[in-house]
Amino acid sequence: MIVIIFGPQGSGKGTQAELIAQKTGMLAFSMGDALRHEVHQKTAIGMQVESIMVKGELVPPQITNDILSKVVNSPAAEKGIIIDGYPRNQEQLEFYSKNFHTDYAFELDLSEEESIKRISTRRVCPKCSHNYNIVSLTPKVEGKCDMCQVDLEQREDDKPAEVKRRLEIYNKNTLPMKEYYEKLGVLHIIDSSGSIEEVNNKIMDVLKGVLKN
Ligand code: AP5
Repeated sequence: MIVIIFGPQGSGKGTQAELIAQKTGMLAFSMGDALRHEVHQKTAIGMQVESIMVKGELVPPQITNDILSKVVNSPAAEKGIIIDGYPRNQEQLEFYSKNFHTDYAFELDLSEEESIKRISTRRVCPKCSHNYNIVSLTPKVEGKCDMCQVDLEQREDDKPAEVKRRLEIYNKNTLPMKEYYEKLGVLHIIDSSGSIEEVNNKIMDVLKGVLKN
């Protein structure tokens, strides 16, 4: 089973992918997290993509296509996979649609104003990549990851100019791809302006057939 989750920056793709994974036993995969992991590990891919990501631009498609293929075909995705952050443009969609199918596609719909607000208050753990929010999802101890106890950070690409660039790319390249999911009959548009739990309830209403036993 393949579930695609897309939406503007800060709409809650990563947050919802994790919650769906907990409830269904599927694997949550974030392309952004996978790329940030390469950067932190200073791999050849990481060195190639770091400066692109900091500017909020898309990294070359051969890199994302390779990463995606490996994870979808891995044993970790045996029970299904929720993909957050891929495909993001026509080139990636062409590769994806030739090689993989889509069972459900969720568009998380959120205004630009709210997206920017959520991103400016997001904090992440540099060790495990878990997301927090100083308003809506606070850690148990202020400024520390609940699991790793390390200091939380703001993402480099979460500064206003980079967020604006990422939103432009989303509106120009990613949002138009919803037509593809619509034609497949798998598109579900979710109003993402409610609380994390409210948004998750709407998604799980659609996915109730795939709940973990
Ligand atoms: P990526 O990491 O995927 O970033 P993004 O798409 O910009 O999305 P975000 O992570 O900013 O937002 P999100 O929707 O996941 O929101 P979240 O759940 O964190 O990509 C980063 C970069 O990697 C790209 O710019 C590009 O360079 C590269 N890249 C990635 N994929 C690529 C691809 N396919 N091709 C080429 N390049 C690629 O939530 C945000 C905050 O809001 C959190 O603090 C959360 O706690 C809070 N929150 C969530 N839901 C709610 C709610 N309902 N109410 C209140 N607060 C909420």
